[in-house]
Amino acid sequence: MDESNLMDKITALCKRRGLIFQGSEIYGGLANTYDYGPAGTELLRNIRNLWWDYFVHKRSDVVGLDASVISHQEIWRASGHTAGFADAMVDCKNCRLRMRADHLIEEKIKKKVEGKSLQELEEIISSNKDVICPNCGKHDWTSVRKFNLLFPVNLGIIEGDQSLAYLRGETAQGMFINFKNIVDSSRVKLPFGIAQIGKSFRNEITPGNSVFRTLEFEQAELEYFFDSEEQDWKKLFDAWKNTMWDFVTKALNINENNLRWREHSDEERSFYSKRTEDLEYKFPFGFKELWGLAYRTDYDLKQHGKFSNKDLSIVDPTGKKITPHVIEPAVGINRLLLMILSDSYTEEKDRIVLKLSSKIAPYKVAVFPLLANKPELVKKAEEIYKSLKENFVTVFDGRGNIGKRYFAQDEIGTPFCITVDFETLEDNAVTVRDRDTMNQKRIKIENLVAYLQKKLV
Ligand code: GAP
Repeated sequence: MDESNLMDKITALCKRRGLIFQGSEIYGGLANTYDYGPAGTELLRNIRNLWWDYFVHKRSDVVGLDASVISHQEIWRASGHTAGFADAMVDCKNCRLRMRADHLIEEKIKKKVEGKSLQELEEIISSNKDVICPNCGKHDWTSVRKFNLLFPVNLGIIEGDQSLAYLRGETAQGMFINFKNIVDSSRVKLPFGIAQIGKSFRNEITPGNSVFRTLEFEQAELEYFFDSEEQDWKKLFDAWKNTMWDFVTKALNINENNLRWREHSDEERSFYSKRTEDLEYKFPFGFKELWGLAYRTDYDLKQHGKFSNKDLSIVDPTGKKITPHVIEPAVGINRLLLMILSDSYTEEKDRIVLKLSSKIAPYKVAVFPLLANKPELVKKAEEIYKSLKENFVTVFDGRGNIGKRYFAQDEIGTPFCITVDFETLEDNAVTVRDRDTMNQKRIKIENLVAYLQKKLV
């Protein structure tokens, strides 16, 4: 497959087939925001459900949480985000384009600059005349400044510090501030995890790789609490690496050759972490972070204990007082979706196919009447559609010719298409076409559900 412009091809497919649209499009678009159409919404939901099933329902040591998006300013002071959660930015003085300094340097002179100070970044930019503005081509930059990523919100009608809250910058803090609530109200005992899927918000300036990095995104995070005197964090860390790898390669069926681990250097690592490794995926724009794994120690519980003046330690059955340590796998659902689209996008001679696993395909089955202007075929197809809907997420399509309908379903990864033709009215059988092999089989209507159930594992 020709890999050039793969991202453009995926973006065009997403718009054409109702997966992803530019946010606020009819008003000219709002940068770094996206809306998900009918097929995209189903795909997101399937990824989210699969993650939840794998990390919560299938385990006996993880419980769920759904915490508030709008959160007390003290949470973010305690966690260190109001002071430390910032990117270094520069503005082009000529055309006013604002960019992350590290992205600009990486893009223009292919130099990794994680952990460099503002002054060091500024020196690199000013001394390299190749670091030109990607928009207007000038080398005329402002100084490098820090830009906090948290979104402030003013509550009520009085503006000022008293009414200041934040849209959460990560779901993780919800787990720390509810730690005691969960210990006191559920039957958890160490080691255990608290998992959450929900929206997070960051005022990001991004180079625009579709939903890879957006202002608003969905995180799936898990805080795994353990007694650091009882368990070796390095072993636990490695066990989580294996679990994450298995989820991506086995549950999501992603090609292992497009994945790798990368450990953060001391300069790059977040202030709260003792070790961080990223599971990276080879996106069309290069290997980038998919999923982070961090050993956050007892940093967060201790900080919240201090700032809230509440004791967030627990007492184990022997009477020992413990402030648990934490290992955190944190991934974005939207980033998983972009990985899945990149990995499954396939160009064949006469068609484009999303080779999605049937578990996450937006629709499992599509039903068509061979001809849309023959009422007896439409009626029969509608009957079959209605009965299949009871068992599978099914879509009906009566537009255009049969070839176009196959083409459209292939592009959103529907595993099976069912055509009702004139013979159906005689023999009570339909043609079932397999997305990947394009083989067609005649199946009796009475056996259809059992046939599809067997195939859609
Ligand atoms: N609690 C730790 C934490 O939030 P992170 O590396 O900043 O760590 C975790 O975020 C994951 O969330 C990332 O690996 C990525 O998958 C996703 N993510 C982070 N920022 C994002 C953004 N602006 N847009 C989309 N996904 C994002």
